[in-house]
Amino acid sequence: MLKFPKNFHIGASMSAMQTEGKGITEIGDLTFDAYFKENPELFYHGVGPDLTSDITRHYKDDIAKFKYIGLDSVRTGFSWARLFPDGINLNKEAVKFYHDYIDEYFKNDIEIIMTLFHFDMPLWAHELGGWESREVIEKFISYCEFVFKQYGSKIDYFVTFNEPLVPVFEGYVGKMHYPAKDSPKEAVAQAYGIFLAHAKAVKLFKELKIDSKIGVVYNWNFTFPFSDSAEDKISAEIYDAYVNRGPLNIMYNGNINPIIIKTLEEYNITPFHTSEEIEIIKQTKIDFLGVNYYFPCRVKTNENVKNRWALDQMHIEIPADAKINPFRGWEIYPEGLYDISIAIKEELNNIPWYIAENGMGVENEDRFRNVNGQIDDDYRIEFLETHMSELKRGLDAGSNCFGYHIWAAIDCWSFRNAYKNRYGLIEVDLKDQSRKFKKSAYWYKELIENKE
Ligand code: BG6
Repeated sequence: MLKFPKNFHIGASMSAMQTEGKGITEIGDLTFDAYFKENPELFYHGVGPDLTSDITRHYKDDIAKFKYIGLDSVRTGFSWARLFPDGINLNKEAVKFYHDYIDEYFKNDIEIIMTLFHFDMPLWAHELGGWESREVIEKFISYCEFVFKQYGSKIDYFVTFNEPLVPVFEGYVGKMHYPAKDSPKEAVAQAYGIFLAHAKAVKLFKELKIDSKIGVVYNWNFTFPFSDSAEDKISAEIYDAYVNRGPLNIMYNGNINPIIIKTLEEYNITPFHTSEEIEIIKQTKIDFLGVNYYFPCRVKTNENVKNRWALDQMHIEIPADAKINPFRGWEIYPEGLYDISIAIKEELNNIPWYIAENGMGVENEDRFRNVNGQIDDDYRIEFLETHMSELKRGLDAGSNCFGYHIWAAIDCWSFRNAYKNRYGLIEVDLKDQSRKFKKSAYWYKELIENKE
């Protein structure tokens, strides 16, 4: 079995919206509540975001289960809409809930990493224009200030944004998140607002001298050209600038790739910005990086292009002989974790980093239930083993990686897919919200016990 060093963190991820649902305190509506209300048929089996894994009621038992597995760290998040349901007034019950919740991790010796924004846009903020609105950004910064001051002494790692551009691509060109538009110009304006909000949150955190660390969790689904052709290489470079290294670098140290500036100008979609804002962005300096890795992006040039923005020139294609997770349609390529490890070492000054998400979502796991009622998820064990081996290779080559978190600690609700693809080490039975370890939980436990 794989052996990681004793001080290497092995844990699991979740997010607020995907586990809390409406929960035990008041919470303001999110864009996903509106989406579900307007189009319930778009959600797998008509399951919306109301209940999810109901963790605000189950957290004591769930954390006991995390402890049993041996997780030394867990990432979840604060819900902006729970702490400030209308964006203005503080919800005191929510403040208490998060103290109790965090304390429970503490009692169990589990370090907690808290995300401030994980796709959970309050509806009021969206109605004000989302991240394009400077008013929304200021409200976000007030929420951050509250959280830093209130919980700063209890949290070792704060994450500003999880996969910052996913709600932008999925909501403004991909039609998977609210408001399901198809407008590159708006996508770019929303993305810029996120960069600004991130930079301001990091700046505030440093000014407040909070005694913990701040970073971002970026979905670095490593870029490769699909072929050796000159066209695919250029497309991959542009794709990387827009989707992978480009935004990641802006959030890492405020470095804006000239390809982005040039191509936005070419298509006349440069977002509104001021020189003061750009200065704030350029001063960004995070303490650590979280990387979510699920699949590689093999970029192929399009023959017919819509030509509204640079990304219209290309698409992602999976090679015919590649291994694939058919339930999610994602290529399985563990070697990507080694590539990321080396890229961080060589390109990002070997910043302390960890795998914040990596995992395998499978549909109808009931098929794999054994006579004792346990799901024998050998495919997940294989996924973990192959990916973690590649990460270990990166560690051995000197990459400054301090941990690995599987997505997910427990089955989570997933946006339009709801509970279609299950990712957890722990199964959630939607009939009665009961929980059961899957085989992978015992494998993970052994892996953790095997550290030396
Ligand atoms: C990441 C997100 O994109 O991948 C999670 O940070 C998400 O929120 C996970 O659940 C798995 O993707 P999906 O879409 O299958 O749930």
